[in-house]
Parts: sequence; structure tokens; C-alpha cells
Amino acid sequence: MSEYREISPLELCENPFRLIGDEWMLIGASKPDGTFNMMTASWGMMGIMWGKPALNCLIRFTRYTYEFTEASPRAAFSFFGNECRRQLGILGSKSGRDIDKMRESGLTPVVEDGVVWFKEARLVIFGKKLYAHDVTPAEFKVPDLCESVYPLRDYHRIYTYEIEKILVKER
Ligand SMILES: Cc1cc2nc3c(=O)[nH]c(=O)nc-3n(C[C@H](O)[C@H](O)[C@H](O)COP(=O)(O)O)c2cc1C
Repeated sequence: MSEYREISPLELCENPFRLIGDEWMLIGASKPDGTFNMMTASWGMMGIMWGKPALNCLIRFTRYTYEFTEASPRAAFSFFGNECRRQLGILGSKSGRDIDKMRESGLTPVVEDGVVWFKEARLVIFGKKLYAHDVTPAEFKVPDLCESVYPLRDYHRIYTYEIEKILVKER
């Protein structure tokens, strides 16, 4: 644990477009029985919601991870730089319903307080669930966008997490 330093959201010097969109993140949550799951995500945003530092992410209800984000009041968002790209590819293309994700990826999980994060991460954001709502087709102001993103009608649930803690790995 000592290789990580806690910083405040105000100290986070990251471009959110690169961080989430290019670097990707692993969203991880655990159930009270200790089981956990994680998936790769590249859609989301960071900013201020209801006066609080927050991270929004989108999880389709078809994901196994959805069961865990629904069950847990918290989630962790792990970022890895360019390392672990291959592992993030696996965790973003196979379901925890079908494979042992930890064995396939070789990552080292830390399960605590309703979340799972990874010792290989360079940055971990811990969030408390504040709000969740489902994408509603009728609310799209650009219907083509809805059609192109959801041809299978597998809509996302959009979660807002309050950022409670940020850990950065010391170099
Ligand atoms: C680069 C990348 C980004 C992804 N972003 C998202 C996302 O933002 N939301 C989502 O629901 N799925 C996203 N996925 C797909 C899930 O990671 C993928 O379906 C995963 O296998 C789900 O695993 P699970 O069933 O164990 O939860 C992404 C996949 C990749 C490779």
C-alpha cells in the first residue's frame, strides 16, 4: 500500500479525455459475499455533480459487472497507462460469467469495502454511488445516435459516483 500516495481531486492533473477515452479504466465492484467482477470501460466523465467531485460511467445492463455495481454502494476505477493493455483487452471482451477473469488477466486484485482494484494500476479512483439512471431512447435529441449506439436495445445505466479517494502510484 505504501507505494501509493493519496491525492485530492484538486491535485489530479490528468486530461479526462485521454484518461478515460484512450487509456481506458477497469470498473470493479464486489458483493457482500466477497465475490467481485470488473470490466474495461472507455466511456465516462469526471467533473462536479451536486457540488461534489464525481465520476460518471456507463454500464450496459447485459454486463456481468452490472450485477456488482447494482449490489455495491461503491466502485473503484483503475487506470494502467499503456501497460496492461492486453489484459484490459481481455477484460473488455470476455465476461466474468464465462471465464475466470483474474486467471486470464494475471492482474492482482485488492477486494475491500465493496470494490476491487488492482496493484498494477498507476492511478485508482474510489467512488461512492450517488445516483443511477437508465438511458431512455425517447430522451435522445438526436435519434440517429440512439440507433447507432443501441441497435440491440441493450441500454446503459449511467452511474454517478462521488470521488471519495484517489491513489497514485509513486514512481
Ligand atoms: C476499450 C473498451 C471499452 C469499453 N467500454 C465500455 C463501457 O463504457 N460500458 C460498457 O458497458 N461496456 C464497455 N466495454 C465492454 C465491456 O468491457 C465488455 O462487454 C466486458 O466483457 C464485460 O464484462 P462482464 O460481462 O464480465 O461485465 C468496453 C470494452 C472495451 C474493450
